[in-house]
Amino acid sequence: MLADDYRRQADALTTHGLALIAEANSPEALRDVRDRLFARKSGLLTALQQTLGTVDDKRAAGLAFNGTKQALESAFEAATAAMAATRGGPAIDGTLPARHTWRGTRHPVSQVIDEIAEIFRELGFTIALGPEAEHEWYNFGALNFPDDHPAMDMHDTLYLGERTVLRTHTSPVQVRTLQQYAPPVRVLAPGNVYRRDFFDATHAPAFAQIEGMAVDEGISFADLRATLNHFARRFYGATRRTRFGPSYFPFTEPSAQMDVEIDLGDGRGMRWVEILGCGLMHPAVLESAGLDSQRYSGWAFGMGPARIAMARYGITDIRLLYDSDVRFLQQFT
Ligand code: DAH
Repeated sequence: MLADDYRRQADALTTHGLALIAEANSPEALRDVRDRLFARKSGLLTALQQTLGTVDDKRAAGLAFNGTKQALESAFEAATAAMAATRGGPAIDGTLPARHTWRGTRHPVSQVIDEIAEIFRELGFTIALGPEAEHEWYNFGALNFPDDHPAMDMHDTLYLGERTVLRTHTSPVQVRTLQQYAPPVRVLAPGNVYRRDFFDATHAPAFAQIEGMAVDEGISFADLRATLNHFARRFYGATRRTRFGPSYFPFTEPSAQMDVEIDLGDGRGMRWVEILGCGLMHPAVLESAGLDSQRYSGWAFGMGPARIAMARYGITDIRLLYDSDVRFLQQFT
C-alpha cells in the first residue's frame, strides 16, 4: 500500500473515532466506543495497525498511525473524565467494598477544657500550670490544711517520696502562681490530678481539674458569683439557672458550691447538679504566697471537666473516658 493511501485511512479513522467519542452520552455508550476503537483483537485501531506492515514507507505510515492513536486516546480520556465529573465522582466500581477510614477527634474532656478556657480567656484570664509531682507543702500546707487533715491520709494521696506527692488537686497552682506574679492576677489552671481511688463507674485514680483564681485589691464574693454565673450562662445557655450553697474547703472562707440545673438525659428531667467548689481565698493562703492579706483578697474555684462532660453528653460510666475506644470517642466530632 502507498503511504498516502495509508495516511488517508488513518485520517478517516481519526475523524470517525472522534465523532463516535463525541456522540457517546452515557457511560455505557462510552464503553461501547472504547471496545469499537481500542479492543485489542477487533478494534478499529488494531485493524489500522495490522495493515501498517503492507505500506511501502513504514516510517510515514508509523507517524500516521501514532497520530490517530494519540488523538483518539486523549479524546477518549477527556470524555471519560467529563462523564465522571457530570456524574459526581470518578468512574468507580460500585461493587467494591469501601475501605474504612478512621478519623480522629478531640477527646470530649479536652473539648470541654478548651471551651471553658476560651470563656475565661475572654474575661482576661491566662493559663497557669504547675507540676504534677508536687511538694506536700504546696498541695496541703500552703493551702491551710491542718497537719492531721484526713485528705493527707495514705488512703487519698499517692506519695512519691517522703515529702513529694502526686498532686491531689490543681489548687497548689494558686500559691505557685502568686509567688511568681504580682496582683492583679487572673488565671485558669487546667491539669491532671491523682488520688488513691479504685477505678469504678464514678471514680478514676487520675483525672482532670480546672482551677480558677482572681487576686487583686478589693475582690469580693460578688465578683466570684458574677464571674461564675457568666461562665455558666456562656457554657450552658443564657437562660440556665444556677445557685450557690455553703460548703467547706480549708483554703477558702467562706466556701461555696455552685449548682446548675441540668437534664442528665436519664428521664428525670432538670435537676440541680453541683459543678464546682469555690470561695474567697483564705487569708492564710495569700500569706503563704507572701502577699499582705490586709491589702489583697481573691477568689478561687475548682471543677472537674470529666464530670461536666459526662453530664453534658449523658455518659454514666467514667471509664469510657479512659478506654480510648474509637467506637465511643467517634461520637464527639
Ligand atoms: N481543690 C478542690 C478539690 O480538689 C476543688 C476546689 C474547691 C478548688 C474550692 C478551689 C476552691 O479553688 O475554691 O476538691
